Amino acid sequence: MSCCSIEISFLCLLALQSAIGFRQNAVFDDRPWDEDYSLWKQGTDVFIRSYGLAFDWEYTMTEDDCTLALHHLWNPRIKGPKIPVLFVHALIADGDTWFVSKPSNSLAMVMAKNGYDVWALNYRATSYSPIEKHQYVNTTIDDNALKDLPASIDYVLQRTGYPSLNLVSMSKGGFVSLALLSTRPEYNAKVRLHYTMVPVTAVTQPRGWIKYFLEFHRFMVGKLGDIYMSLFDSNTLYFDFLHFWEFPLFLQRLADTLPGLEQRIVNWLWDARFRRGHINMDREIISKAVKRGFPTKWFGREMIQFSQNTFSGLYRRYSPSWLADPRSVYRSTLPDSRPFDLSRIKAPHIMLQANTEIFSTPADNERIRNELCHTFISGPRASKYAFEVSVPNFQHVDPLVGRQNAEIYVNAIYMTFRDHDISLNKTFAKILPRIEAEWKYLVPQPCVPIR
Ligand SMILES: *[C@@H]1O[C@H](CO)[C@@H](O)[C@H](O)[C@H]1NC(C)=O
Ligand SMILES: *[C@@H]1O[C@H](CO)[C@@H](O)[C@H](O)[C@H]1NC(C)=O
Repeated sequence: MSCCSIEISFLCLLALQSAIGFRQNAVFDDRPWDEDYSLWKQGTDVFIRSYGLAFDWEYTMTEDDCTLALHHLWNPRIKGPKIPVLFVHALIADGDTWFVSKPSNSLAMVMAKNGYDVWALNYRATSYSPIEKHQYVNTTIDDNALKDLPASIDYVLQRTGYPSLNLVSMSKGGFVSLALLSTRPEYNAKVRLHYTMVPVTAVTQPRGWIKYFLEFHRFMVGKLGDIYMSLFDSNTLYFDFLHFWEFPLFLQRLADTLPGLEQRIVNWLWDARFRRGHINMDREIISKAVKRGFPTKWFGREMIQFSQNTFSGLYRRYSPSWLADPRSVYRSTLPDSRPFDLSRIKAPHIMLQANTEIFSTPADNERIRNELCHTFISGPRASKYAFEVSVPNFQHVDPLVGRQNAEIYVNAIYMTFRDHDISLNKTFAKILPRIEAEWKYLVPQPCVPIR
């Protein structure tokens, strides 16, 4: 009897201890992922709240009546004003993309935890911002850049009462953000600091499978034009294909039977040329993301838009060389197809480039650095804040799915935003805590202003 009650009190003590522990460390304990992904299946909101953050879904409307969802998260334990930061996602993704990694590796979660008001936009025709078919047919990347992004920025500013926000973008998100800032100069004043990771902006030579993938679209659109486009309006070809083959499951089995080979295949997919020794990309996170329904359903047409942009050789809206009038095929309502003029961008920038890039060559990277050189803020020892990650085989998707992103870039970028925001308004020194940040992985890259 007494033995039993001793046991019970011991258990009570344990329970109490873990309850207290949970309360103290609820946010960002490096707790293991649920193997059956139950938290993810219950939704991003459940997942984010389980780490002690507040979350809600918000919605805004574009000028052409598309409803856009926004992820909204913040730390309810931090009192006082919170500076808004808006995350702009990549191709074949949605706002969930910022939460696929473990929380300490997620810039969005780390910024929310430390006192920022975090928002993630969802372009039209993605999982949380579905559109009617008749709208989808006419959707272009320009709609993302010149309608979805400004609608989301304006909504966040209006909701938070701030005149400007911080912007974080990745891959196509970089393209979209730079397109807006160079096309509608008034938006530069609404951006405190734009941090863009692996922006796809000046691609001349896509590499690896992506090259053939995009080449295929280019060829088919050239041959079939509208007919090819309409193929993507009526079905979910890629989505079904990926899920039919259960690609993550395939990788998992391969990893179980031939450990090492699977990592090489993942490396090869992202153009690390079948090399061993990649220490960052986390296949498990990729599997989780795909299992949940990544990539999003609606991306055939987006893929075609993208292939057009990546082959343009310049940071252009369209690729006029192989289509007489691309605007007729893409049904753009824009009056012209001149290249984006990045010299018009005024908002301050920091940029991170990968050293193993499937989307751009070192020359592409250099060109975009030069085009944005006048916008980069200065960092330690007066070097400009355009970085390359020094980790071997740091790939295009690593900023999302890397195992060591907290050390590699997340904490350092949080500190950069913090310092910049404090330089704008000292009040935030009391609100935004300092955190330990490692700088050795971020190697500053030179740039030469174009004019
Ligand atoms: C697409 O846009 C064009 C031009 O604005 C319009 O004529 C056409 O009806 C639209 N297509 C659909 C399916 O709404
Ligand atoms: C600094 O931020 C605080 C809090 O948002 C605000 O009340 C104050 O007016 C700001 N100061 C300046 C100079 O903008």
